[in-house]
Amino acid sequence: TVIGLDDYRPSDHLADTIHLDILLHPTATRIVAETAFRPNPAGRPGAPLVLDGDELRLCGIELDGQPLPAEAFEASPQGLTVLAPPQRPFRLRVVTEVDPTANTKLMGLYRSGGIYCTQCEADGFRRITYALDRPDVLSVYTTRIEADESEAPTLLGNGNPGEAGAIPGTGRHFAIWHDPFPKPGYLFAVVGGRLGKVSKPFTTMSGRPVEIAVHVEPGKEPRAEYALDALERSMRWDEEVFAREYDLDVFNVVAVSDFNMGAMENKGLNIFNDKYVLASPETATDSDYANIEAVIAHEYFHNWTGNRITCRDWFQLCLKEGLTVFRDQEFSSDQRSRAVHRIGEVRTLRARQFTEDAGPLAHPVRPNQFREINNFYTATVYEKGAEIVRMLKTLLGEADFAAGMTRFFETCDGTAATVEDFLDAFAAVSGRDLSDFARWYVQSGTPVVTVRTEYDPAQARYRIDLTQETPPTPGQAEKGPLVLPVALGLVSPTGAAIAADCADLRPDGVHVMAGSRASLIFENVRERPVPSLFRGFSAPVKLRLDLGDDDLLALLEHDSDPFNRWQAAQMVAMRLLVGQATSESGTPVEASLLRLALALGRVLVVESERDPAFAALLLSLPSETEIAQEIGSDVDPDAVHRAWLAARGTIGTVLAADLAAIRAATEPDGAYSPDAASAGRRALRNVALDLLASADPAFGEREADRQLAAAGNMTDRLAALAVLSRIPGDTRERALARFAEDFAGEPLVLDKWFGIQAAIPEPGTLDRIHGLTSHPAFSFTNPNRVRALVGSLALANPTQFHRADGAGYAFLADIVLMLNGSNPQVAARLLTAFSTWRTVEPGRRANAESQLKRIAREQNLSPDVSDIVARSLSEA
Ligand code: ARG
Ligand code: ZN
Repeated sequence: TVIGLDDYRPSDHLADTIHLDILLHPTATRIVAETAFRPNPAGRPGAPLVLDGDELRLCGIELDGQPLPAEAFEASPQGLTVLAPPQRPFRLRVVTEVDPTANTKLMGLYRSGGIYCTQCEADGFRRITYALDRPDVLSVYTTRIEADESEAPTLLGNGNPGEAGAIPGTGRHFAIWHDPFPKPGYLFAVVGGRLGKVSKPFTTMSGRPVEIAVHVEPGKEPRAEYALDALERSMRWDEEVFAREYDLDVFNVVAVSDFNMGAMENKGLNIFNDKYVLASPETATDSDYANIEAVIAHEYFHNWTGNRITCRDWFQLCLKEGLTVFRDQEFSSDQRSRAVHRIGEVRTLRARQFTEDAGPLAHPVRPNQFREINNFYTATVYEKGAEIVRMLKTLLGEADFAAGMTRFFETCDGTAATVEDFLDAFAAVSGRDLSDFARWYVQSGTPVVTVRTEYDPAQARYRIDLTQETPPTPGQAEKGPLVLPVALGLVSPTGAAIAADCADLRPDGVHVMAGSRASLIFENVRERPVPSLFRGFSAPVKLRLDLGDDDLLALLEHDSDPFNRWQAAQMVAMRLLVGQATSESGTPVEASLLRLALALGRVLVVESERDPAFAALLLSLPSETEIAQEIGSDVDPDAVHRAWLAARGTIGTVLAADLAAIRAATEPDGAYSPDAASAGRRALRNVALDLLASADPAFGEREADRQLAAAGNMTDRLAALAVLSRIPGDTRERALARFAEDFAGEPLVLDKWFGIQAAIPEPGTLDRIHGLTSHPAFSFTNPNRVRALVGSLALANPTQFHRADGAGYAFLADIVLMLNGSNPQVAARLLTAFSTWRTVEPGRRANAESQLKRIAREQNLSPDVSDIVARSLSEA
């Protein structure tokens, strides 16, 4: 069934309070739910009470203390309807029973490594009890949790802790939690288990004392310290930057090892995939540390953008997710190097969101219909949603943006809001009409901006013509122009700044383009300039620029905007990589590659000292995914791979001396620290190794093996292993075997090991992966393991996933079908790897299509998988 945005109507009933009594048991947990319902004045009078359920067993039902006669209700595992409920407030007491051990979907109440936990977003609360499971029904929850004291000494719920104690003579104990803030069921959570914790006191800006804690598997407490520290920094930052203060007496984070997504912002009780909590120098890489910091911040920031202000319906998902991603990006940028972080954000956006926009799964940031909401936790909703908020800030300027946020917090607190409510707050404080800007939320597809420039030396006049066009996407043939904030400046090819007068430019250097074309005229331009456009990636567009390599390399060397310096090098590289991958003509490409390498070498002299992380990014070529996307049709992944390898080899050869000097200058000294500056030096050192190995595999093998033996941290170790993994031979196999021995019993580290092997670009990889599925550390029931092994094939190994014989596609399809029943969310997510299938060359395209059709033919497809396969195959 398709649900449409326009179908929204308020609930016929409201649920003011919910009292839950949860009697934890491994296979038969009882839930007694007593809810105070009343007719919604905004609903239909006399309507039946229709409660959602999902695989529930009903054990009892009473209305206002009286057992409800069988003819008064209809119940199934999927729902409960009270046919003629009282036309006044009433209490309904419902008893259900669930089996947390059998819950492999990891939605609702389940067990992970012996720990009871819950995941209720988007529609998992109905797997615990019958409920009005929709985000606009807000209730005050009181939760009593009871469990065997030996099995679950720790019992956590939402809100503040209340009474707790033993139940004498039973071996059981209980804890009562009360959450004073009304919330929808998707923010409900309970946890029970044997957990260790790290904690500290936090005092909010108004003086409220809060106990903040991170709970992990006993023995892993030291690995939770970094998450606790990141949490404290997040809380302080939200006070300083957004004036948002925490509002409960405790804030608990719990790490579990089986989790479908990254983490969940349940009120006062965030539940995390342990991969985004646990870190030690020996087991986590620099990017793990950065991800932990970002996800901890993200979930914490949801307390205001998501929880205090929630969503009216699931079409408004971007209201909380896009905004919260924007907030966590700003946090990370303040904690680290802003330019480096921005480049990382854009790389992710291009790799994931632009790919989504270019394929059959394209959808607006606010979709207007869905069949399965869990399939809309996408890069478009999250990452493009964040870009919209960022553009809004550029459009309005710091002051009006800040005022608009304050107004949004004040006017919408305690409500289930919409995207319109959000935009209204900014329109109100700025006096601006944002209705054109709002098109960003409803129009899918990535706009393409084409630029023509013209310099007239006689008139000292420079002209930039911009046109924008968005290609059609499924269900949206017609596109309109978007409001684009274009941050720009002019750069002299020799490096001097160019002052010029332009009436179409704001003092901060931003031109707001609202129509499909724009012309900017600059007067008094005394020399031919190079335009630096969309500085800081000021709008999420694809840029078609009429600049030659020399102009781009001038930007690389001289632009004041670090993002565009990086971008210029990427454009030069992209042009030659696409040329190389789509034709056989080698010579012109070699010349231009040489120029790029030499320019990079010049820039590196300064940058490898000034900002090593930035220097590392300059040396990173566009990924194979980005190259394939740029080619757009009839892609041959093997040709892309060959072009990519050859370019890296040339850069490594040309820059060999510089790279060796970088390695010598960045030898690790002293103890590991995860801070951004130290991480930047490691990143640069490891990119240098990678390029040197591309140029000279024999040297690379020796050097990587040496680094592997000497490495004192996981970042350097894994970087060396990754380099070795692409050099076939005994050294590699010995290194892989040794790594598995060293980290036996460390599932998160072995995920890296699975991932590296699944990404080896060699024909033997599929067999290797097949073998690894029976490795004792592998399990199909753990989403992290599946993503590490199968996900890495699909996302990090283009040549082997897109094998010409179709074996990669067949393998993925087998796994999707296997997981379809046990964990449909994970299955559906893996299946999205097929979304580029129409862009590959005809032979591969036919193979991919036949696998998609094979899945589509299967009986008993979950809604999750059936939705993705149907959209992937749909014609327009
Ligand atoms: N709200 C969570 C976050 O972004 C994501 C939860 C999504 N879970 C799901 N099963 N769809 O922080
Ligand atoms: Zn989120």
